[in-house]
Amino acid sequence: MIIIITGTPGTGKSTIVDLLSKTLGYEKLHVSSFLIQNKVFSEYDELHQSYIIDEEKAIQLLDEYIKARNIVIETIYPSLISHADKVIVLRKDPRLLYEELRKRGWNELKVAENVMAEILGVISSEAKEYFTKVCEINVTNRKPEEVVERVLKEQCEEIDWLSIEEIGDLLISLDKIISSYEDSISDE
Ligand SMILES: Nc1ncnc2c1ncn2[C@@H]1O[C@H](COP(=O)(O)OP(=O)(O)OP(=O)(O)O)[C@@H](O)[C@H]1O
Ligand SMILES: [Mg+2]
Repeated sequence: MIIIITGTPGTGKSTIVDLLSKTLGYEKLHVSSFLIQNKVFSEYDELHQSYIIDEEKAIQLLDEYIKARNIVIETIYPSLISHADKVIVLRKDPRLLYEELRKRGWNELKVAENVMAEILGVISSEAKEYFTKVCEINVTNRKPEEVVERVLKEQCEEIDWLSIEEIGDLLISLDKIISSYEDSISDE
């Protein structure tokens, strides 16, 4: 059994993977750490403070590693996993996520891009593109135990943050932040 737990950074993947793997007695795998250990990154992107992956190599290595295992996988890149029995996307209210990511000490651009990705459902769309059945769960105001119970019972929901007006306003202000970085790059 292969279970993918994906979602925007800060939505609670590690917390849920920990608890779920313990509950089921499964192994766990953190995709980014696995790729770093196996040197599957081609370069480091300073501006976005993240590594750039050699995708083909990553998919192959991961496929080889996970097959025939009972495993819970944490990833922000669902498309790197070629097979899964369950695909869960954790979603978190972008207003709360914004506050939490700011506290991580990331640069303003990285925070803005990630919160924007959550508002627009970027990881959720990627998961739906690669897997036929995808289960979204809103973690906001829920205890990790409750989220795990929902994963096991497949209690899924449709999430559209843009239906909340205040989040639409947040999107506009994030867009301004991101554009100001883009302008500063084109000025160089
Ligand atoms: N119901 C919940 N499920 C999961 N995490 C929660 C929940 N409620 C609060 N949290 C909190 O959310 C924060 C982010 O969690 P975590 O580090 O697991 O996220 P992550 O998605 O693994 O982030 P990253 O992508 O950076 O690895 C933690 O402080 C965690 O305690
Ligand atoms: Mg994590």
